[in-house]
Amino acid sequence: MVSNYLLSNKKSKWRGKIQPAPQKSNTPYRVFSHLRLPKLHTPMAKKSVFDPQSVHHQFPALRRLHNKKPLIFLDGPGGTQVPERVIRAISTYYRRSNANTHGAFVTTRETDKVMSDARTKMATLLGAPGPECISLGQNMTTINYSLARAMSKLLKPGDEVLITQLDHEANRGPWLTLRDFGVKVREVKLLPTGTLDYADFEQKLNENTRLVCMGMSSNAIGTVNDFALVRQMTYKVGAWLLLDAVHYAPHFSIDVQAIGCDFLICSAYKFYGPHVGIMYAKPGLLDRLPTDRLRTTDQIAPYSIETGTLNHAAMAGVSAAVDFIASLGSGDNLREKLDDAYAKVSQHEFALASKLYTELKAIKGITVVGQDFSSEKRTPTVSFTVKGKTAEEVCKQLAAGNICAWDGHFYAVRAIEVLGLLEKGGVTRMGISLYNTEQEIDHVIKAVKKLT
Ligand SMILES: Cc1ncc(COP(=O)(O)O)c(C=O)c1O
Repeated sequence: MVSNYLLSNKKSKWRGKIQPAPQKSNTPYRVFSHLRLPKLHTPMAKKSVFDPQSVHHQFPALRRLHNKKPLIFLDGPGGTQVPERVIRAISTYYRRSNANTHGAFVTTRETDKVMSDARTKMATLLGAPGPECISLGQNMTTINYSLARAMSKLLKPGDEVLITQLDHEANRGPWLTLRDFGVKVREVKLLPTGTLDYADFEQKLNENTRLVCMGMSSNAIGTVNDFALVRQMTYKVGAWLLLDAVHYAPHFSIDVQAIGCDFLICSAYKFYGPHVGIMYAKPGLLDRLPTDRLRTTDQIAPYSIETGTLNHAAMAGVSAAVDFIASLGSGDNLREKLDDAYAKVSQHEFALASKLYTELKAIKGITVVGQDFSSEKRTPTVSFTVKGKTAEEVCKQLAAGNICAWDGHFYAVRAIEVLGLLEKGGVTRMGISLYNTEQEIDHVIKAVKKLT
């Protein structure tokens, strides 16, 4: 079944650049010929402190008043605010270049460039070898469903896929559908401490494991997972590793080649861009997957998983979002600027989140969920419960004071369930983004104190 796709020799502008898929292999999983040890998660390079006020003028939403006061946006894990340059890039596309792709006239050619620019910028952001590894789509969930459907045609009864209890449903639901095809989908345990059980990981990985799907970090409780360790474990059994970077990409620099993952999916609306999903696939891998596609679709990566007309305007916004992040750092090229920017931003976000965590923890009646900030393996996302109140009640009260925070399970419903918090209505989640300030955190802490 796979061979039809492998043997496709359709011409493409990427032709010649892609590492060709092995032509004869019936075992698509054992493909790691040049193992590279993953670089560890390094969020906190010692850099000068980032000043969030320096970017405030770039975010129109931060100037908005509600009941004559500004809003405090702690809803970043659900989607960040968008800087002017992203908004402008999207509207400029509609004003000047709106067309479909692959034509002869000026606007269609400009649209082709918008799409290839987005792939190139995202390749740089993710540390991918090139734009031929970057597929674009509606959102992370939709891309993951497409990938799972392709895998369902590739995997055989008895093959195993590993998912985790900590993950967002978008990285569980698509893979659970493989049970309908006789694939054994196993679930790695989440410990009460908020970390994955790596002993359980090791125990559940075996020679039948074809794919491991895990988040780089938890959008519900902020844990950064040890994906480097898991990569080493998956190498031993020859399983593919798919990483959900949706909650990680806004905060930390990513290098897919250093990590050695096979697939990585993220969403631009979590890192100051528009609502689109982006997938990295290791060179040669996507070409071997029998994705759903029309006869008219380009039959090779990165297009072979893309369906229909994409959101071209949003892709102009994706490039602008990458440029926005890069503008916060310095360096001789885009990648260096991005790395520098992430180092500064993550230091700033970590400091605020750590303060929020510590001060919330000290309030009587508040229980902060998940790991503390003694380790750097933490995103700046702090979740808690308030004694005697549901998370919804807490968020409604905070909203009355212009504080935007989310309540519930945020689709990481299994994690919240396993932590025993689902029946109580989940948690209140406060996510720090680069534009948040220390004054905002002080204000929020005072507001939470009034709730207890
Ligand atoms: C960790 C994580 N994974 C996946 C998703 C789903 O992303 P999308 O909305 O792009 O489908 C989200 C969305 O909140 C998320 O936080």
